[in-house]
Amino acid sequence: MERTPFLDQHSKTPLYVQLYEYFKHEIEGKKMAVNSKLPSIRQLSMHLKVSRNTVETAYQQLIAEGYVESKPKSGLRVLEVESILTTAKTTKKTIHSKPDTQPESYIDFQYGDIEVDKFPMKDWRRCLVQAADYTNTNFFSYGDKQGHQGLREEIANYLFQARGVECSADEIILCAGTQQSIQLITQLLDLFNQKVAMENPGYDGVRTVFQRQQCQIVPIPIESDGVDLDQVEKSQAKALYLTPSHQFPLGMVLSISKRMKLIQWAHQNDSYIIEDDYDSEFRYQGQPIPSLKSLDHRNRVIYLGTFSKAFLPATRVSYIVLPKVLMECYKKEFTFLNQSVSPIIQDALYQFMINGYFAKHIRKMRKTYQAKHTQLIDSIQKHLGDRATIIGQKAGLHLLLQLDTKLEMTELIRKANEKGVKVYPTNAFWLNSLNKDENFVMLGFGGLTEDQIEEGINKLNLAWFS
Ligand SMILES: Cc1ncc(COP(=O)(O)O)c(C=O)c1O
Repeated sequence: MERTPFLDQHSKTPLYVQLYEYFKHEIEGKKMAVNSKLPSIRQLSMHLKVSRNTVETAYQQLIAEGYVESKPKSGLRVLEVESILTTAKTTKKTIHSKPDTQPESYIDFQYGDIEVDKFPMKDWRRCLVQAADYTNTNFFSYGDKQGHQGLREEIANYLFQARGVECSADEIILCAGTQQSIQLITQLLDLFNQKVAMENPGYDGVRTVFQRQQCQIVPIPIESDGVDLDQVEKSQAKALYLTPSHQFPLGMVLSISKRMKLIQWAHQNDSYIIEDDYDSEFRYQGQPIPSLKSLDHRNRVIYLGTFSKAFLPATRVSYIVLPKVLMECYKKEFTFLNQSVSPIIQDALYQFMINGYFAKHIRKMRKTYQAKHTQLIDSIQKHLGDRATIIGQKAGLHLLLQLDTKLEMTELIRKANEKGVKVYPTNAFWLNSLNKDENFVMLGFGGLTEDQIEEGINKLNLAWFS
């Protein structure tokens, strides 16, 4: 059974209407191909644990409106969208109590989206074309296992200027995203079946990778100035994963005194700190925060960076800066691994950096995201007032809202959806502690315009408090 529509048993909308809406939406959005088959009534009712009657009524309505047709011996098949739209216009709808409640387009506060309109397409395209030139030495090869030499040199320069990290190209390994960086580190440190301490709440994308590699996660609570040191000391962890410059998802900064103590802890316990510096380019209040790596004179910090926030997630390029002793281990035991980022993309990124486009882009994005961020805070204060507390507003491309309401998370999300706004739950960031997040929602703002942000927050107020 490939399809599992979400049916909300507590919703006022009857289940058969929800099911009908789901298929209608999938067919109109062309997510179900013309002539593809709908699951049988028996299969779907068993799968969703709803009555056959529910499925049958939803299907009848889809037939009546011309979304599907029933073919002898082959069940229900999806019809062509154009003909559906014409039929729909002439067919009287009987199923809705109100006309179509699905908004046509959403204001989507999706974390991870970036600014699209100001993306330096011309510059990036020029670099891609240059990289795809077959006379380019990298064009026909697998490329350097550690990653493009020139790109690593550019990253080393950038890290020194922007993050105070002193390293050479030789200490850097390129990977295809942070999760891959973590996989490699798990192997390098031999963390299988070992304890790995992590901020709780923390980035689930990384936590799951550790868990899948049989690491035992030790959750470390967060205080206003970062992780709880006593808990780190008790953890006996072989590695500690942190987001010190902008805790994910709560947004605080790890204090300088804790930074020094953590490096000391790692040194005394023969442990490593994995510093994920994912979005430090965008800081809106206070001084720039030096990286933990720049304070590390004990060779205990493994630094992780990514191009996903500062440039483009679709490049799938991240990097690791390894302490010398780990680099030696990598060179002895891990060069069997081929480089997983395409040499063509690496070359394009190299061109992008060496020609100064990257630095220019960051300067521009700082201003752009700053303006969006200011708009978001202003809109929240204007529309939601003291019914919402903002958490983690000093940096990055997201923040959390803690809402003064008794509505449950699913209700908050559903009501926002009805008004045409998408917001996201935060429960996945907590390990083993349900309920903690009950009234937190996450708002990513990188991909929205200032107008959309204002409109979106206004609609959220209407959805939740009117
Ligand atoms: C804490 C954290 N680290 C890293 C990343 C970036 O991951 P990637 O490099 O795979 O795009 C994200 C993106 O959502 C993140 O939230």
